[in-house]
Amino acid sequence: MGLSTLVKCILAPVLASATILQNGQVRDTVFANTSIASVNSNWTSYPPNTTEISYKGRWDTQHISWWSAPGLKLGFTGDKLAISFGQHTSQGVLVTYRFAGQDWMFSNVTANSTHQFVDASTLGFDLTLQTQRPQTFELRVTNYAYGVQIAGVHVAEHARLVQIPNFGAKIEVIGDSLSAGQYATYEGISSYAWGLGAGLGNVEFDITAYPGICLVDQNCWGNAHGQVYQWLRTSDTSSRSVDIYGDSPPLWDFAAHQQSDIVVINLGTNDNNTHNNVTNEKYLNTYIDFVAEVHGKYPHAQIILIALWNGFDQVGNTYQQGGAFVDEIKQVYAHYKHEGFVHYFNTTGILQHNDIGPQYHPTDVGHVKLASHLMQYIKLKFGWVFGATGPEVQADTLYWNDEANY
Ligand SMILES: *[C@@H]1O[C@H](CO)[C@@H](O)[C@H](O)[C@H]1NC(C)=O
Ligand SMILES: *[C@@H]1O[C@H](CO)[C@@H](O)[C@H](O)[C@H]1NC(C)=O
Ligand SMILES: *[C@@H]1O[C@H](CO)[C@@H](O)[C@H](O)[C@H]1NC(C)=O
Ligand SMILES: *[C@@H]1O[C@H](CO)[C@@H](O)[C@H](O)[C@H]1NC(C)=O
Ligand SMILES: *[C@@H]1O[C@H](CO)[C@@H](O)[C@H](O)[C@H]1NC(C)=O
Ligand SMILES: *[C@@H]1O[C@H](CO)[C@@H](O)[C@H](O)[C@H]1NC(C)=O
Ligand SMILES: *[C@@H]1O[C@H](CO)[C@@H](O)[C@H](O)[C@H]1NC(C)=O
Ligand SMILES: *[C@@H]1O[C@H](CO)[C@@H](O)[C@H](O)[C@H]1NC(C)=O
Repeated sequence: MGLSTLVKCILAPVLASATILQNGQVRDTVFANTSIASVNSNWTSYPPNTTEISYKGRWDTQHISWWSAPGLKLGFTGDKLAISFGQHTSQGVLVTYRFAGQDWMFSNVTANSTHQFVDASTLGFDLTLQTQRPQTFELRVTNYAYGVQIAGVHVAEHARLVQIPNFGAKIEVIGDSLSAGQYATYEGISSYAWGLGAGLGNVEFDITAYPGICLVDQNCWGNAHGQVYQWLRTSDTSSRSVDIYGDSPPLWDFAAHQQSDIVVINLGTNDNNTHNNVTNEKYLNTYIDFVAEVHGKYPHAQIILIALWNGFDQVGNTYQQGGAFVDEIKQVYAHYKHEGFVHYFNTTGILQHNDIGPQYHPTDVGHVKLASHLMQYIKLKFGWVFGATGPEVQADTLYWNDEANY
């Protein structure tokens, strides 16, 4: 079998944002210009550490976001909302945001700027509904390598922020580019990890995933460390992190944050690449240690090991799924089987060769399939309910055929 399908995880360059390409064509994206000059006395301002802001994913003490699809959620009164972004915000980073249960919208934000995301003309904004439903605002960073720094949140002059309590349950996906949504349309928020967490609807979720990263602690595709090291840290392996923290990223304070109830691990595709020289034995032993580490941080969590599909090869006149560390992942599962908290998620049969794009990562459709199967697995296995009630999960996937009989 040829090795044509090895996953190559090239790190995103830290430059100005690029154009979104869809099947090689420029995708027609029209993002609103949300930038405003500044806020004046007609606004009420809150600092980034105000307790009404619920940060999602990993943020540091300077309110800088890390990893894949980090964000925030808050409630507010009044007819406008703006956010100021600090100097550690990536240039032109694409963020997605939504008001209440409306569709996700997009905007490029930048360092040292203020952006108004809600005004009275925002779709779905209707003051008469204020007493019936909370006005919520959510924002997420779409790209794993870029980030934002929150410098302040502003609402109308006599308005206020309202804290929105976290959901009681939390799920976490620990992974590499496959979980970070690299090469998916909106990257992190088009990934299966997003589809799973946001798709369940009534859970908190963290995506501690970064392209190119190995499980084993060594340099893989320019990532100085593997997840067995980096997952314990607040920041990821990006050059942003190196710029701010050098080689000493702060430890993540697990005790200060909501515990994950389910942890999905999708790691090894980069370790399996001959470029990175990880032996099967080293991978196996590290994986066994890593499961113990995750269990130590979240003693009550169910841990799901994702079997690695590792792309597809043309075999004779058809196609066949690859696979990476097939025996090793089964052995990790076997090692912990008697303890009951480790589970094996068999991916065989979920994806087909055309669910993988030219850059070796799932297409948007591939991501949706993975997310849907994982949701159902979690529902059947652990009794979690599907808590999404209608609002959009996968942005810009509304395409259809409205012509019959052709
Ligand atoms: C905004 O981000 C998108 C996605 O990265 C990019 O295609 C677009 O060029 C950016 N626009 C601006 C004005 O930076
Ligand atoms: C966006 O709007 C702001 C304020 O109105 C303006 O200063 C800025 O030039 C605009 N940016 C773009 C890319 O049009
Ligand atoms: C504040 O709002 C009032 C009423 O909406 C408006 O007339 C005034 O120009 C605003 N002031 C500033 C400084 O924007
Ligand atoms: C927020 O930060 C300010 C300034 O550092 C500090 O005085 C204040 O106590 C903090 N508030 C909270 C809620 O932590
Ligand atoms: C943002 O402001 C800080 C502090 O004023 C400054 O050092 C930095 O160069 C600014 N960054 C950008 C991109 O303008
Ligand atoms: C893998 O091993 C080869 C041969 O020993 C070496 O040339 C290469 O630099 C190694 N790659 C990494 C990522 O360590
Ligand atoms: C990758 O995984 C395959 C399938 O389990 C295994 O046969 C192979 O030894 C692994 N190769 C590397 C380089 O890790
Ligand atoms: C995964 O599913 C495939 C297809 O049903 C099956 O052949 C394989 O044995 C399964 N692997 C494990 C470890 O159960």
